[in-house]
Amino acid sequence: MWAIMLKIAHISDLHFFKASFNPLQLASKRLLGNLNQLIFRRLQHDPSICFDVINQLKEEGVSHIILTGDVSTTSFRPEFRRAKSYIENLKEAGFKVFALPGNHDAYTRFAYRNKSFFHALSGAVPFQSDENLPFHLEEDQVSAHKLADNLWLVLIDTALYTSYRLSSGHFTHQIEDRLRKLLARLPKRASIILANHFPFFETVKPQNRLFGGPRLERLLRDTPSIKLYLHGHTHQQSMADLRHEELPVILDSGSLSLREYPSFNLIEIQGEDCSLQTMRREQNIWTSTKELKGICL
Ligand SMILES: [Fe+2]
Ligand SMILES: [Fe+2]
Repeated sequence: MWAIMLKIAHISDLHFFKASFNPLQLASKRLLGNLNQLIFRRLQHDPSICFDVINQLKEEGVSHIILTGDVSTTSFRPEFRRAKSYIENLKEAGFKVFALPGNHDAYTRFAYRNKSFFHALSGAVPFQSDENLPFHLEEDQVSAHKLADNLWLVLIDTALYTSYRLSSGHFTHQIEDRLRKLLARLPKRASIILANHFPFFETVKPQNRLFGGPRLERLLRDTPSIKLYLHGHTHQQSMADLRHEELPVILDSGSLSLREYPSFNLIEIQGEDCSLQTMRREQNIWTSTKELKGICL
């Protein structure tokens, strides 16, 4: 039993962007990403909203922030620098911040192979597991962080470099194996929040899907201690209570930088009781759009 009070904001898909006009990249995926951003995405995203929300998070009494990926748009170094500076702002405001990469943070072959996301955010967020558990998010693609007695956050990195046509991730057999080993090392009575960039459903459009999603779904069914599954990627906020299907409650925070309806989720934990809220900005006012109470951790 823990008499704790935690308030966690789940944010995602910030998509900081800096145009790159390097002539050496004329034939690269980044060029296409730049064109896409300049023509379409700029109309959809405004990352300054990410800064505007900080006061709201303070007013809500948030203590922790979980960022489920796509901090950048084309994995360009200045985009990562902006993301890091944003995270530093969050920390200065008093929040404890966790982050994992999305497909846009492994956008080019170089960024994927060189793990640019991890180099850029090193020191800003923890990648090494707590309590000497031998799992590091950069090296092992899984990590575990103790939020409170018997409450753990587990991060997984399923980001993948793909062709321009795809926005897929991959829950590889190796990640599954490590995740099962990590889960076996957590205290038996621990409740777990699992965070990933991608949803695991097969109903997602094929080009946006997580390869290995059905195996991740099986793992979730095998592991009733995973109470919440957090993801982003779709840019569509949702909350799905799948406990009747022996799955966790699934939370998609949507995108925090969307010009129209930016969104985030709130997770409030009091003792063993957890309640959830989806928050969306409508006409410049942050509004709670859906609530789910009485989740027993
Ligand atoms: Fe995204
Ligand atoms: Fe994504």
